[in-house]
Amino acid sequence: MTSLSPLDPAGVDAAVEAALAAYAAATTLDDLKEARLAHSGDKAPLSLANREIKELAPSDKAAAGKTMGAARGRLGAALAARTAELEAERDARVLVEEAVDITLPVERGAVGARHPLESLQERMCDVFVSMGWEVAEGPEMEAEWFNFDALNFDPDHPAREMQDTFFIEPPSSGLLLRTHTSPVQVRAALERRDALVHQGRGIYVVCPGKTFRTDELDATHTPVFHQIEGLAIDKGLTMAHLKGTLDHFARAMFGPDAVTRLRPSFFPFTEPSAEMDLRCFVCGGDDAECRTCRGTGWIEWGGCGMTHPNVLVAAGIDPELYTAFAFGMGIERTLMFRHGVADMRDMVEGDVRFSQQFGMEI
Ligand code: DAH
Repeated sequence: MTSLSPLDPAGVDAAVEAALAAYAAATTLDDLKEARLAHSGDKAPLSLANREIKELAPSDKAAAGKTMGAARGRLGAALAARTAELEAERDARVLVEEAVDITLPVERGAVGARHPLESLQERMCDVFVSMGWEVAEGPEMEAEWFNFDALNFDPDHPAREMQDTFFIEPPSSGLLLRTHTSPVQVRAALERRDALVHQGRGIYVVCPGKTFRTDELDATHTPVFHQIEGLAIDKGLTMAHLKGTLDHFARAMFGPDAVTRLRPSFFPFTEPSAEMDLRCFVCGGDDAECRTCRGTGWIEWGGCGMTHPNVLVAAGIDPELYTAFAFGMGIERTLMFRHGVADMRDMVEGDVRFSQQFGMEI
């Protein structure tokens, strides 16, 4: 390759023109870098010519220096100008390409939703809270004493048998998974006994929560289910107060036309005891063939009664001075009636589409 001489102004000029043309032709900063290496890099003809100055005769150095200085000056200026142009172009492009429109709606991630059983449980509690009752809770793993003995179950009552109750090993622990929310009655009464006896503050509590029985999961049974328990202890409470409370509860849950009835029954912890039935919401009692109420016109909602004196005694409350009523409902059953859910498995399987039907945002 013929080398460029610093003493050849026309050749230097041509090299500068070639470099300026290459810089001008570069359309990206990468192109420009390549052009710069080719025309101003260590091995570029102009750079080599510049290095030759020091080899020249002293009389030639001034002219060569002037030629090369001017050439390098033009190169440097052109490079700086083109760099600035291309950087500005790049910045403008990046601003457009990487712009974020903060007014666009975001893709919302599914974060889950409250289960309809949970919101129904809260709604049921609200009915009582609005009447001045308290919400009380107790442990899911419960002492056998609270679950059975304090509630006046005989030691050989069949409900204690292995086929109903999940007992906690070893048997000497005296613990089980509570089979109903009724043990919370006794806990709540014990906790509030002093205020009742010394300050005359009646006890009015609802106790919602999980309960456990050794049932197989099918359309109408689940081994883990929910109940809501009610307990009122005061002076002078009668069955009429129980009936009035339950009627109000039923209307709050099922609408102003809900019709209820009490049917004699048996529970160890109430005397007298009753089942509370609702007028069949499918046939209204008019269809002898109705599959929901099996033609009886009524469906069972829960149990209730006047609290047995032995239960009050277990809670340290004198049954001669105070009377009490209690009731307990299944929350799954209530959801089934209220929303026409036919199969309990839908409530436990955790398919979000089930919750979505209740207007839940998932
Ligand atoms: N604990 C009963 C059950 O699980 C329901 C019940 C019946 C609760 C009568 C009560 C009651 O408080 O008075 O079947």
